[in-house]
Formats: sequence, structure tokens, C-alpha cells
Amino acid sequence: MKKANVIDRIFHGGLPASPRNQKGLAFAPTNIALCKYWGKRDIELNLPVTSSLSIALPDKGTMTYLSLQDKATDTILVNDEEIALTTPFAERLVCYLDLFRPKKNWHLHIDIKINIPIAAGLASSASGFASLVAALNDLGAWSLTKQQLSILARLGSGSAARSFWMGFVEWNAGVQSDGMDSFAMPLDIEWPELRVGILTLSNKEKPISSREAMQRTVNSSVLYSAWPKKIAQDLAILKQAIHVKNFSLLAGTAESNALTMHATMLSSWPPICYSLPETLAAMRKVWELRHEGLEVYFTQDAGPNLKLLFLEKNQAELTEAFPDMEVISVFEG
Ligand code: DP6
Repeated sequence: MKKANVIDRIFHGGLPASPRNQKGLAFAPTNIALCKYWGKRDIELNLPVTSSLSIALPDKGTMTYLSLQDKATDTILVNDEEIALTTPFAERLVCYLDLFRPKKNWHLHIDIKINIPIAAGLASSASGFASLVAALNDLGAWSLTKQQLSILARLGSGSAARSFWMGFVEWNAGVQSDGMDSFAMPLDIEWPELRVGILTLSNKEKPISSREAMQRTVNSSVLYSAWPKKIAQDLAILKQAIHVKNFSLLAGTAESNALTMHATMLSSWPPICYSLPETLAAMRKVWELRHEGLEVYFTQDAGPNLKLLFLEKNQAELTEAFPDMEVISVFEG
């Protein structure tokens, strides 16, 4: 099954001939997985081996402005800087847009405003593809549901499937080969005291993309066979912890989930290690603080930065311990 076949299914046979509007715009928040997506059952459609669960960061993400342009190519601006179409970032974006062009000579001016570091493990591709497809929906006046947008965004980047809602979001892996049952849905529970602290330890581009790292893990890590079982357990525990608002159960499970994902990477060949010495130092500090009785946990994605998980009541103590940390009130954006 090809991406184009999925698009045919969403649009029941074909894309609308031309967009209804001259411009389109949309914002999508980035999301941080508490139960990670790591490994695909279908590489073409970004269909995951397992389900996953995330939390949105309301003010962090991507705003995409689209306008039709009478030029032979697309133009891409990221935070007001024009990006060469030969960069891997632009190639991936243009290739995704190719799926939606009603005519070959149909081109766009794409103005992207992003307030998180690109490719440093802060899920920039998640909010990027979600905001892009939501902006296309606005441009074309397609009136697609969020469920349909989630399926389309997944074709660009798996984690983008979860970036259409605030709060807790679960992406159901699904079983169908066309992935029409693999989309995300929000969990209707708020937890206003919950905080995410972003510890930016490095803004450098990651040495290996999550896409490549994920595939290498699936193909070479002897530990990967244990991953689906771990996810099934963690997902059930996380949902229960959210339901009863048990913070240590939620955050402890998220930390264990992230460490297990990184263990599968370390056991891949060639090995994958996103952590820097600063990452390990921050982890040790979290463990020490916890040993001293402060309820703080972390999660880590495909990059060296950590996201700390804690409750509002401990915010003052934690900002003192980590003065450079940016605190996000996840339910008060
Ligand atoms: C570690 O969504 O970036 O952030 O589908 O290949 O684009 P592709 O991968 P991507 O992977 C995200 C991996 C992760 C975990 C997660 O967000 O669940």
C-alpha cells in the first residue's frame, strides 16, 4: 500500500481539483510521548508496532502559513529564513506536499514559524507535519475531521498523528494494512497541576534521525522483542494512573518507558546513543532529588534533552535545582 492510496481513501477517490482558498494556516502543538512509539510495522505508511500515549505542550509547536504561488517550485521559510530545497528538511516536506498537489505545476509559499529546536529530540516533526496538513485542510476547505488529519499527518511523521489535540492523546496502533484504524484520539481527562520542564542540554541537530534509529533498532536489537510487551503493560498503567491521578505511577512509568526505549537503542548495532554527558548528569540529579524525597521524573526522546515531569507544588524547588529549565503548564496553555 502506498501513501497515495491512503489519500484516495480519505478523499474517496481523488483530491479536490483545486484549493478553495488562496491561503491556509494552522497551529499544531508538539507532543511528548509518555509511552513511546518506537518501531514500525509498515515503513511506507508509518504504521507503528505498538500504540503510544503523549501529552501536548500547548504553547510549543508550529504555525504554518500556506499561500498559492505562481512559481515553478515551492518556497520554504523557517522562522523567516529561506531554506534551500536541497536540504533533507525541505526534501522531506516537498515530497510530502507532492502527495497533495492537484496539478504538477501547483506550488506553495510555505511560511513556518516554530518555537522549538528543530531535530533536537523535541518533536519538531510532529508539530510540523500536523500543522502542515491542518493548513492544507484550511487552504483546500476540505473540512476533514481530526481523525482523518491524524491519518494524513502520520504519513509525514508517525508522532504527528498525536499533535491535533491538547492534553493526553493516545495513538492506537491499529491492525489494518491500510492504516485507516491507526490514528490518535484525546483522553478526556485534565490534570491542571501537571508540569513538564524542558531541559535543553544541546540544540545541535541529532546525529541520526529517529526514523533511521527506529529501523536499526527493530532490525538489530536483541532487546526489541520485549518492547511490545513493555508497551502493553506501560500503556495500561499510564491510563490507570491518569484516571486516578496517581502522579508517581504516571511519571515513574514514563521514565521507565523512555529508559527501556534507549536500552533497545544501545543494544542495536551500530549502537545508537542520543545521551550526552550532560544528559547523564541531569538524570543522576533527578535520581538524587528523588532519593531525597522530591517527586521528579524524566522522559527522553531521540535527542540528548530531557523533559522533567513534576507537580505544581514542587515547581519552586525544581526551578531552583534546574535554573535553565523551561516550565510548561500542560493544561493551562
Ligand atoms: C522517540 O515520529 O519522528 O519521539 O515516523 O519516522 O517520522 P517517523 O518518526 P518520529 O519518531 C518519534 C519517536 C520518539 C517517540 C515518540 O514520539 O513516540
